[in-house]
Amino acid sequence: MKDMLERLEERRAQARLGGGEKRIEAQHGRGKLTARERIELLLDKGSFEEFDMFVEHRSTDFGMEKVKIPGDGVVTGWGTVNGRTVFVFAKDFTVFGGSLSEAHAQKIIKIQDMALKMRAPIVGLFDAGGARIQEGVAALGGYGEVFKRNVIASGVIPQISVIMGPCAGGDVYSPAMTDFIFMVRDRSYMFVTGPDVVKTVTNETVTSEELGGAKVHTTKSSVADGAYDNDVEALLQVRRLIDFLPASNQDGVPEIPSFDDPNRTDDSLDTLIPDNPNKPYDMKELILKVVDEGDFFEIQESFARNMITGFGRVEGRTVGFVANQPMVLAGVLDSDASRKAARFVRFCDAFNIPIV
Ligand code: HXC
Repeated sequence: MKDMLERLEERRAQARLGGGEKRIEAQHGRGKLTARERIELLLDKGSFEEFDMFVEHRSTDFGMEKVKIPGDGVVTGWGTVNGRTVFVFAKDFTVFGGSLSEAHAQKIIKIQDMALKMRAPIVGLFDAGGARIQEGVAALGGYGEVFKRNVIASGVIPQISVIMGPCAGGDVYSPAMTDFIFMVRDRSYMFVTGPDVVKTVTNETVTSEELGGAKVHTTKSSVADGAYDNDVEALLQVRRLIDFLPASNQDGVPEIPSFDDPNRTDDSLDTLIPDNPNKPYDMKELILKVVDEGDFFEIQESFARNMITGFGRVEGRTVGFVANQPMVLAGVLDSDASRKAARFVRFCDAFNIPIV
């Protein structure tokens, strides 16, 4: 028995190493954490229960039968965020660039099915190159199953994606279908395919940043809802967002003990709005003064800034805020601002979050 347990521990240690020490070093060298380090930060300490740690791919093409790595490039399981259940999968860039094989897809599908059954949020941490080229159609079929579950879960459980490295193909299409996408500045990218492939196919030279960096996606395309300076900051902010969200569309908004007196008055609000209607004022100041403890989680802060969307709490319960921002373009509604607000309202509607 002791022998078996020792062998099991050895296998676990090998699986924890993913693509090996050299690749982990390279990952750290690029300012990125490993998949397991990221999960540790996202979830409450010691709460992570991992599934399918020893799963390997089944491909025999292009010599793949000789390179099998336990876990196959994705770490999956569940844990808690401030005591609330969350399902999670994290792509491991050190294993075949985190690319998706048929077996890898089955691990993600299992987590999606469990999250849906348990009516709990699902978080995907992405750092991956899309479909595993060596597996061809088998990998594409795997994505089909993942996408289908993204659609089925939409409006039922919150789906959150964090883009933490160069991501291409299906590792961008699937996040794009989720409710919230966050990126890490200067080291995460979302594109259909990378600059090298773009150069080969179209002969166009383009940098990763221009093709799909955090700036492009938070200010122009509006694909991403926010960007942070590093992995740690991004994961801590996702924990904060989860605290605002209902676990599912049947659960109702979470209630958090508030130390903010609901009867407090703020005299500065009397003078915030200028007498002259042609003078702008900062609507964010008003929101921050109204919400509990000044805690406001803004969504799409850098896109269509004439519109403000985000979550706050009133008497400890989550409320969605939608507001014109007179400081930008006099707060007019244009197409971008309307789209931004509509998307946010749709989320609140699906999850029964009251809107102010
Ligand atoms: C297999 C892959 C891979 C992939 C990366 N790798 N992407 N292996 N399949 N899709 C491997 C690399 O070969 C390399 O292995 C290691 O991961 C690290 O990759 P690098 O290229 O060295 O890293 P970097 O320079 O940072 O570039 C990352 C990248 C680039 C931008 C993601 O690798 C890239 O452009 N990959 C191809 C992206 C792509 O076109 N994917 C297919 C999308 S199609 P070694 O051993 O050399 O270190 C798709 C369809 C979905 O997903 C549709 C479903 C219906």
